[in-house]
Amino acid sequence: MAFRSGRPLIGATRVPGDKSISHRALMLAAIASGRSRITGLSPGGDVRSTADALRQMGVAISNEGDQWTVEGRGEAGLSEPPGPIDLGNSGTSARLLMGLIASHPIRVTIIGDSSLSQRPMERVAAPLRTIGAAIQASPGGTLPVTVEGQGKAMPRHHRLAIASAQVKSALMLAALRTPGTSSVTEPVATRDHSERLFDRFGAPISIEEDEAGGRTITITGPAALTAQDIRVPGDPSSAAFLAVAALIVPGSDIFIRDVCINPLRTGLFEALRQMGGDIIFVDKKMVDGEPVANIRARHSRLSAIDIAPQKVPSMIDEFPIFFIAAAFADGTSRARGLRELRVKESDRITAMADGLKAIGVDVEESEDGLAITGSGGGHLRGGASIASRLDHRIAMSFAVAGLHCDEAVTIDSMMPVDTSFPGFIERLRELQNA
Ligand code: S3P
Repeated sequence: MAFRSGRPLIGATRVPGDKSISHRALMLAAIASGRSRITGLSPGGDVRSTADALRQMGVAISNEGDQWTVEGRGEAGLSEPPGPIDLGNSGTSARLLMGLIASHPIRVTIIGDSSLSQRPMERVAAPLRTIGAAIQASPGGTLPVTVEGQGKAMPRHHRLAIASAQVKSALMLAALRTPGTSSVTEPVATRDHSERLFDRFGAPISIEEDEAGGRTITITGPAALTAQDIRVPGDPSSAAFLAVAALIVPGSDIFIRDVCINPLRTGLFEALRQMGGDIIFVDKKMVDGEPVANIRARHSRLSAIDIAPQKVPSMIDEFPIFFIAAAFADGTSRARGLRELRVKESDRITAMADGLKAIGVDVEESEDGLAITGSGGGHLRGGASIASRLDHRIAMSFAVAGLHCDEAVTIDSMMPVDTSFPGFIERLRELQNA
């Protein structure tokens, strides 16, 4: 599909429900006692993978329009699925479910698509083995993985070597059915949606911050969770694409309504502001334990920035679209400490470097980062075809870049976008035609 320069983006829009919160809300509702109702759940393929997997493990999940109902299994917990569970493209489903399953006495084989099947799973498997789960991964520590959960798991203190909300959350989920006190220490704070939702569902949880910026989360199990009604706010990681589109296309002025502005997710918006981007959060409020706002983004002249390493976790999924913003800024932007980007849905460092070069941007790739020299606000050359590599964020990033290029940017497949942002193209077009 081709994306080319056109009209400014004008008007108000919405983005799908936050993917991270959606996965967690479904999983906690599945093991709580009683009926939970969830609205605003992400309609993307990744969250559908989580819902389907939970259904295969005995959880009744249904929806009427935007109103989802989950019949929690309570003490009975999850049951063994009749066959392997296929989690498609979703790393969050795979890692979090491994944790949830690890303290259930069931045996589950997890498979996924060719992108997910290359992603590292040992980071979750290794600490889960220490609580007593038997986990067999394929050579290289990838899917298919078979988890044989432990009904009498042992509480442990886990100290994480990498900053990963997925690993943290997997261990937290395992702790819910582990008798005794389990804890996880993360080296730097990562997204805390699990912590917020655990508290809301009534899990005994405490959080301690250390001076170095890390956190220790302590959970005492077995925890009896109570069903909840949850409204899921819009996904800031989806809003990021529309916001950057508005910043780079002259004349644009958009509102994105009801977006989660959890401070551990808003690193990109802060970076864009520092670059001179006119982005503001208005009508801030709390919705079911998460801060939410309307985001206004207007066309702006951007200047280059260096991203400080401690900011990386708060914008970990936003680097592809950050690199696009940098490609239109004045000067050379640099980001380092991004080794984790090499094991996302694709190798995002190489995917972005190759794509940016193809559309005429001066890029220097290193092992753990990129340096990008921008156009100073002018059009890029464009005129290239980009491989989306089964990576939704690569596809959307180059679609946005195409909106301010001399020649069209063609994306080989926009299908991957449906994992997180069904309706992305329609929303862009609506804003252009307002
Ligand atoms: C996520 C955590 C991050 C992020 C992913 C979603 C989560 O992954 O990249 O898209 O919901 O916990 P890592 O834990 O691998 O950093």
